[in-house]
Amino acid sequence: MKDSPCVVGISGASGAPYAKRILQFFVETKRLAHVLITEAGRQVIAEECGVNLGKTSTELEQGLEKLIGKNYADYITCHELNNWNSPLASGSVKSGPMIVLPCSVHTLSAIANSHASNLLERRADIMLKEKQRLVLVVREMPLHAIHLEQMLRLSQMGAHIFPAMPGFYHHPRNVNDMIDFVVGRILDSIDIPNNLVTRWKS
Ligand SMILES: Cc1cc2nc3c(=O)[nH]c(=O)nc-3n(C[C@H](O)[C@H](O)[C@H](O)COP(=O)(O)O)c2cc1C
Repeated sequence: MKDSPCVVGISGASGAPYAKRILQFFVETKRLAHVLITEAGRQVIAEECGVNLGKTSTELEQGLEKLIGKNYADYITCHELNNWNSPLASGSVKSGPMIVLPCSVHTLSAIANSHASNLLERRADIMLKEKQRLVLVVREMPLHAIHLEQMLRLSQMGAHIFPAMPGFYHHPRNVNDMIDFVVGRILDSIDIPNNLVTRWKS
């Protein structure tokens, strides 16, 4: 194991291909990660990646294999959102950084208001109270004042607000280049070396 496992929360905003890419990156680079997927997150994965994560644990395993790749289970552990016995539900258990990717405005608001009503929201709340790294890849357009206020509150508490905004200065040739740009910048922000980003003037 290279570092403590990251926690990846996947909520129901558009941008499931970013989540798919970061999980593939973790497997490619042999890094462990805990994954928490909301019900809406599953719906968006089905819509945007064409993968149904199903209802049973077998269907979930088959779906994740289709989404991430064959040997995903060696590195990726998916947790149920209502499992309050999970070590992730306790601040006494340290993890690597947490990334919510993509982060819906619903989950943004739940985190900003400490709802902790599922394991994703609870773990994000723990990251804030324990002053550990929390990256929120918020995706909505346009944004109204409450969205902006919630992001400001969380930023002031130390969360890293990371809107899914691909750049164009690296001249992306296709959608995969744009996904890699965003995922590479997220990995940069948690100090994980990667070559997904074409560096400016490099
Ligand atoms: C295909 C699809 C795309 C969506 N895109 C967004 C989005 O970009 N941003 C957002 O905040 N909500 C989006 N939603 C709505 C959320 O899924 C919805 O508000 C849900 O309650 C979020 O729940 P969660 O935060 O528990 O995942 C989308 C829903 C679907 C089905």
